[in-house]
Amino acid sequence: MPRQFFVGGNFKMNGVQESITNIVNNLNSAKLDSNTEVVISPPAVYLALTRSLADPKIGVAAQNVYDKPNGAFTGEISVEHLRDTKVDWAVIGHSERRVILKECDDFIARKVKAAIEGGLSVIFCVGETLEEREANKTIEVVTRQLNAAAKELSKEQWAKVVIAYEPVWAIGTGKVATTEQAQEVHAAIRKWLGEAISPQAKEDVRIIYGGSVSEKNCRELAKQPDVDGFLVGGASLKPAFVDIINARI
Ligand code: G3P
Repeated sequence: MPRQFFVGGNFKMNGVQESITNIVNNLNSAKLDSNTEVVISPPAVYLALTRSLADPKIGVAAQNVYDKPNGAFTGEISVEHLRDTKVDWAVIGHSERRVILKECDDFIARKVKAAIEGGLSVIFCVGETLEEREANKTIEVVTRQLNAAAKELSKEQWAKVVIAYEPVWAIGTGKVATTEQAQEVHAAIRKWLGEAISPQAKEDVRIIYGGSVSEKNCRELAKQPDVDGFLVGGASLKPAFVDIINARI
């Protein structure tokens, strides 16, 4: 069965009630490709607001979640909190949390496991830095990040994962990966899925691209055989996000 196209909007640490309400209302009233799965991810303090406003066909994701169920972890958000807020997704392992907040592969993998076991679906982010790419270590780095999650998840649990390949050097820089660069890494991830997880996972798990996606470059990227969608940052805050969602029509 063909993989459903997937577009996530990662608002990051941006927006306030009014602007997020406007974004959601714009999405609710826009003509969106019914064949594209859309998930938006506001700052945590606006998850309940976003869920209450967004059309039910639009998924809502937290930008992070803790790996423990509850307890003395000041400032953290649990899977239970998200489920209680009717949030069904979590973005985990974003490079900003790996690089800025120093989250390691194993901690991120434990979060992925906790999220899935708590009933969430996960957008699992992987990607290399410019230094790693220039050292020809891109596939090695992405494989290492994927292997950490494979140690925690059962083969069946990969059905709840969307893998987001986000080259760090393309995030927020305007330097989008070329279609060849994106397809090369996506194909390597697809190959890894077949070898490390299962033939079913190779077929079914969506691999989406993130890193300076815009309404100008999304259509060419969407034509790549192993690009199943996008995780969009800056452009998800703008009306052009609708064009990215509709990249295949
Ligand atoms: O998670 C998506 C994000 O990292 C991409 O950001 O602004 O380059 O689209 P941006």
